[in-house]
Parts: sequence; structure tokens; C-alpha cells
Amino acid sequence: MKMAREYDLKPAPSTGEDVAQASMAINRRQFLRYGFNTAAGVLTASLGMLGFAAILLPPGGGAGGDLAVKFWAKGREDSAWYGPKHLESMTKADFVAEAAKSATGTAGASGVWNGVPVVVMYVEHSKNAGSPESNGKARFQFTEGYDETGKYVGHFEDLADIDPRLMPSDDLVMVFGRCTHLCCIPGWQLVSNSFTEDSWTPGGGDDGGTKLFCICHSSRFDPTMLEMNRNRNRSNGATFQYAGIRRAGGPAPVGLPIIPIQLNGDVIEGLADYVDWYTYCD
Ligand code: FES
Repeated sequence: MKMAREYDLKPAPSTGEDVAQASMAINRRQFLRYGFNTAAGVLTASLGMLGFAAILLPPGGGAGGDLAVKFWAKGREDSAWYGPKHLESMTKADFVAEAAKSATGTAGASGVWNGVPVVVMYVEHSKNAGSPESNGKARFQFTEGYDETGKYVGHFEDLADIDPRLMPSDDLVMVFGRCTHLCCIPGWQLVSNSFTEDSWTPGGGDDGGTKLFCICHSSRFDPTMLEMNRNRNRSNGATFQYAGIRRAGGPAPVGLPIIPIQLNGDVIEGLADYVDWYTYCD
């Protein structure tokens, strides 16, 4: 069972004690403790006053009209590549510059948008899509999706044909940052482990790197694998279909929903057209 596996985790160090522990392999139980002490816990607390209702603002985000996505590196200002940009608006140029330093041409960051946690990933899709997948260079994959019982739901392109804004915009994709397992807030590269090494494999499985990792119970998601899937509104039980990234492993039943984006100049903005897709958490 995958849950029993021990991960070689390196929590983002923020204190001298953490630095000392950072090189130690820790098991999942220990890592749960880290989870509550690192950015995700802080983010949960700080968003408590805003809650889900904040996303129900009309497009434009209210009087300020601020649809911009901000970097969120609370507690990781010294370790995340976007630490110095905490609460600054995300730009495509930020991701392009960071991806250029990686072996796979990818870069990801946690953020906050309209009061809710998000994760943004840049993939050099335009550059890599024409080359063989075996070169390990990441590109988006558009695929069919299956619900937690294994039943076919539909193909990502069925939804993207209706609304092309669901396609990655300028090689960027953004997802709602709450886990479909128990609604924890996943932390992109909050920890480095065998699933977030600087590597990429096709197929959306659990055998390669570059996964979005939920630090609460070790669920993994592949931000490059775009599918259609189905989830349930937590309040009224209604099911809905959505476009999202695929669950690769762990206890999460299905993948994370996309929040479509647009570029305003070079600033990444989220579009509040699919709020129903984010209702699986309170
Ligand atoms: S809440 Fe994410 S794995 Fe449990």
C-alpha cells in the first residue's frame, strides 16, 4: 500500500533546528508534524477569515478588480524560489526564468487568488511537445478521465472544445490548491522527495517526478496530465464534472480542478467562471 511507504523528505528549513533536520529522512508520521508547522498550516489559518466565500466574488474580484494571482511563500521566504516575491503578483516571466534553470523546463509555485490557495505551474509545452517524450522534457498531456470507481467520465478536450480558456494559457496552468482527500492545502515542492525530483515522465503515473504533493497524507497529482473528472459539492451532494489535473497516487480520490487563467500584460489572472468546481471543500 502506497500510504505505508516512507518518503525521503526534506522540509523547507526555516529555523536552525529545521536546517539540522532537513537532511534527515523522515517517515510519514513525522512529516505530518512538519505539515502543520510549514506554509500550509499558516496559510490555512490566515485564510480562515476569508474562507471559500471570497471566491464567490464576481469576475473582477470586487471593486478593486484584482484578478491577479499572488505568490504565497509564507514561512518559506528563504527557501522557495519565489520567497522574495511573497504576495507580489505572479508574472509569466517569473516562471519562464525559473523553468530555464530546471532540467525539465518546468516551474511551480503556490499562490493565493481571490482569498483561496492555488498552485501555478509553467511547462515548456510549446517548446517540448514536438520532441519525443522519452527525452524527459515536460509537456502537457490531454487525456480521458476516470472517476474513483474506475468509470470513464470524459476527455479533457470535450470540455476544452466548449471553453478553450481551459487549455493551458501561454504554457501555464493553475489549479485550486485544496486536496480532494480531506481538503488540506497541497504544497508545491514544500518537500522534496522521490516524486518531486527534477524529472518528468509521461503518462500521469506515480513513477516519475514533478508531482504536486499534498503534505497531509501524501497524495500526488501530475500537473502536466489534464483530464475530465467528477466530484461532489460538499454542501448539497450534487455531482459535477470538471477539467483538472490527474491524481497520480495516494488517498485523494480524484484530481484537482483547474482555474482558468489569462495574462494581463505579463500578470497571471484567474477567471472565476467555474466556482462550482471548487465546492468539494467547505
Ligand atoms: S488531505 Fe491531501 S492527502 Fe489527505
